Amino acid sequence: MYLKSFSKHLCCKNIQIKQCYIPAANNFDCMKIHTLTTCLIAVCFVLITAANVNIEKKPAGLRDYYQKHFPVGVAVRPGDLRKPEESALILREFNSITAENAMKMGPIHPQENRYFWRDADSIVNFALRNKIKVRGHTLCWHTQTPNWLFVDSAGNNVSKVILLQRLKSHIQTVVSRYKGKIYAWDVVNEAVADGPEFLRKSKWTEIIGEEFIEKAFEYAHEADPEAILFYNDYNTEIAAKRDKIYRLLKGLKDKGIPVHGVGLQAHWSVSSPTREELEKSIEMFSSLGLQIQFTELDVSVYAGRQGGQIIQGQQQQQSGVFTPEMEQQQLEKYKMVFEVFRKHSKNITGVTFWNLSDRYSWLDGRGRKNFPLLFDQAYKPKKAYWEVVKF
Ligand code: XIL
Repeated sequence: MYLKSFSKHLCCKNIQIKQCYIPAANNFDCMKIHTLTTCLIAVCFVLITAANVNIEKKPAGLRDYYQKHFPVGVAVRPGDLRKPEESALILREFNSITAENAMKMGPIHPQENRYFWRDADSIVNFALRNKIKVRGHTLCWHTQTPNWLFVDSAGNNVSKVILLQRLKSHIQTVVSRYKGKIYAWDVVNEAVADGPEFLRKSKWTEIIGEEFIEKAFEYAHEADPEAILFYNDYNTEIAAKRDKIYRLLKGLKDKGIPVHGVGLQAHWSVSSPTREELEKSIEMFSSLGLQIQFTELDVSVYAGRQGGQIIQGQQQQQSGVFTPEMEQQQLEKYKMVFEVFRKHSKNITGVTFWNLSDRYSWLDGRGRKNFPLLFDQAYKPKKAYWEVVKF
């Protein structure tokens, strides 16, 4: 309506102008001019609306830049989701979340007959409400296990049969609760040793032996046949450890155990891994027909290869300064690893950061403040961020 009368008005004006110069103007001319003007205005309208849509569009985040490559995730604590600034940052940048601790055996299953669902549920519900993915972490690990798990009421180790029953019941209860909501699970975490032995010595190997690994995968698969099941570990770019993980995974695949992917934790630093080490790992694990996810990415500003080792009882004792040298070295490492991720993105189905911003990182617990992420302590993208999204 508005468009029509506006164009009529213009048209009449045109006619008047036209009549001044072309006295022969008739009704037919007027109709043509009317149609033309209406079209012109319609085009303007469409252009203006499109421009507005563009202005109103939410700013692009990592999830948008990497849309064609893989989902980009972040490890969260339930409290992060309740802070407006943090939850807004999560939703702007990421389309997958992992519980930093809430789904581990200890926190989620503190007593044999009691599960604690509140924190894990709040994370899953946040993801469902906001239509983002959830990775489950983790069903079987040697760390953060509940006190009751390996012992009987007298405090002695339980038998192999009992521990397998407990493992089965734990895995199936947790996986079933989130069936259809958690698309991928880290089923077994860090079972391979850092030292010369094959498997890490733990209560799992002591009581059950190597078999605990395949059983864990079978239990998880029974509970949710659709879930993508991962073996997850750190220092996967160090040749000796990589070879052992490869051997473990090849053995599982050859036996027909339902393992679908390998999680490379990616707790890296400004000094490692090299491009060659990283590419070699991707190529080796992909050759087993496994999908690859980088599940716990951070780049420590202190050189070295501490990987994912938990250093017990350490608090942040020293504050630290994020120097321009650290900033430059970290930016280069992030740039390199994301170049490699893009190059191999047909085999990579996810990249998840371990924590949201430098305001808090689990690495702070290693005695000194670290700055391992892409957002600074004020939640602003660091220079490294702009390198990661520049392609
Ligand atoms: C870490 C958490 O970030 C800490 O809050 C917790 O105190 C210890 O565990 N590898 C893993 C993660 O698989 O579960 C670990 O998470 C970091 C190393």
